[in-house]
Amino acid sequence: MFNRLSKIYTLILILAFLHRLAISIPIISSENNFRSSNNNVHYSRSYDNHNYLELDIQYHYGQFYSTLLSFGNPVQNVTVLVDTGSSDLWVSSPNNIYCYEDGKNTNINHSINCTKFGTYTRDKSSTSNKLDHRLFIQYGDGSFADGEWITDTLTIGPYDLQSVQFGISNNASTIISGVLGLGFLRTESIDGYDGSPNKLYYNLPAYLKDQEITNTNAFSLFLNNSNDASGTVLFGGIDYSKFSGDLVTFPLVNIYPKLINEPCTFTITLQQLYGKINGGKSIGLIKEKVPALLDSGSSLISMPIEITDEIALMVNSTLDTMTSLHNINCSAFGRQ
Ligand SMILES: *[C@@H]1O[C@H](CO)[C@@H](O)[C@H](O)[C@H]1NC(C)=O
Ligand SMILES: *[C@@H]1O[C@H](CO)[C@@H](O)[C@H](O)[C@H]1NC(C)=O
Ligand SMILES: *[C@@H]1O[C@H](CO)[C@@H](O)[C@H](O)[C@H]1NC(C)=O
Ligand SMILES: *[C@@H]1O[C@H](CO)[C@@H](O)[C@H](O)[C@H]1NC(C)=O
Ligand SMILES: *[C@@H]1O[C@H](CO)[C@@H](O)[C@H](O)[C@H]1NC(C)=O
Ligand SMILES: *[C@@H]1O[C@H](CO)[C@@H](O)[C@H](O)[C@H]1NC(C)=O
Ligand SMILES: *[C@@H]1O[C@H](CO)[C@@H](O)[C@H](O)[C@H]1NC(C)=O
Repeated sequence: MFNRLSKIYTLILILAFLHRLAISIPIISSENNFRSSNNNVHYSRSYDNHNYLELDIQYHYGQFYSTLLSFGNPVQNVTVLVDTGSSDLWVSSPNNIYCYEDGKNTNINHSINCTKFGTYTRDKSSTSNKLDHRLFIQYGDGSFADGEWITDTLTIGPYDLQSVQFGISNNASTIISGVLGLGFLRTESIDGYDGSPNKLYYNLPAYLKDQEITNTNAFSLFLNNSNDASGTVLFGGIDYSKFSGDLVTFPLVNIYPKLINEPCTFTITLQQLYGKINGGKSIGLIKEKVPALLDSGSSLISMPIEITDEIALMVNSTLDTMTSLHNINCSAFGRQ
């Protein structure tokens, strides 16, 4: 998912031009180095004098990546979507009008199986605090969450993070009970709507750094292979056992130069995209460079129509205008 600012293509790709690693963040060379772990959290207070925290993520095939978070006292568990395309954490209340009733989808407007993903009730937590400001966030797929801002304890592994700011909503049209946005603070949805707080706050990666649970406001996302159902998000470190070859950096692109003077999304420049059929030669599909958002909130690649047209041409697919899907003659690829 990506928030209201972004009208940009969603691509997770390997690029042709590489820049050398310039950042310096802690190195974790193997999972065995994790001092402790409980349930879906791995953590260490001191490894190479660096602190880090790792959460397991689950891939709901073709839909989204999620992790389990524990809110309030006593804890209420909610499965939230892990989203590099937005910056705010919010969770659904059980009264969300978009929740299925008793886990059953009785109405076309009910989009969330709240029984399955869990919900959070502020009144059931002794540590919650209302902030008297409205939450409103709209995502690139048209879904939104309308509600209020609160603070409460977030328990992750051995840490009880006190007074973490997040939103709660009983009017959220997403497909899951909450979103964990990991983007920049400057992309937080805290202004531009009625009742907004107009005040930046520490979202989870920034909070972990501020509380010295991590040494740096940086994280690594490991999605594993595309068919695997699990991966990890590692706050404050890089796990070199998770990849081979060199680690390289790409400059971020500012796609809103009129609004802001520095990049505010994880958008990089896509120089070229190659396609190749049945051992034929590689064909460049992009005529000019395009900005590409690295968005864990979408399990799809979306791209400008000029590029999908090129791909269609290459595979001789035809657009079915009824479904907006492309049909491909599989026999051309040796399949029925
Ligand atoms: C919440 O999740 C944690 C971690 O998986 C688990 O230990 C705990 O039992 C769960 N609590 C509830 C109330 O579901
Ligand atoms: C779904 O929501 C729309 C807009 O909120 C509303 O007009 C429509 O009646 C709803 N449909 C059902 C089946 O409730
Ligand atoms: C919602 O989730 C519950 C619990 O996981 C499950 O039993 C139920 O079948 C789900 N409902 C639908 C409509 O998928
Ligand atoms: C839900 O939020 C939307 C977007 O702010 C708003 O238009 C709609 O009236 C709200 N619905 C309810 C029942 O509060
Ligand atoms: C990645 O997928 C492999 C299976 O291909 C699995 O054995 C492994 O546990 C997964 N790693 C993580 C961290 O989920
Ligand atoms: C696409 O059509 C062209 C011309 O009809 C043909 O030469 C080519 O082999 C086709 N490619 C595929 C992948 O079917
Ligand atoms: C699919 O491709 C095969 C082999 O190129 C051809 O014989 C067949 O007519 C094609 N089918 C359609 C629906 O275009």
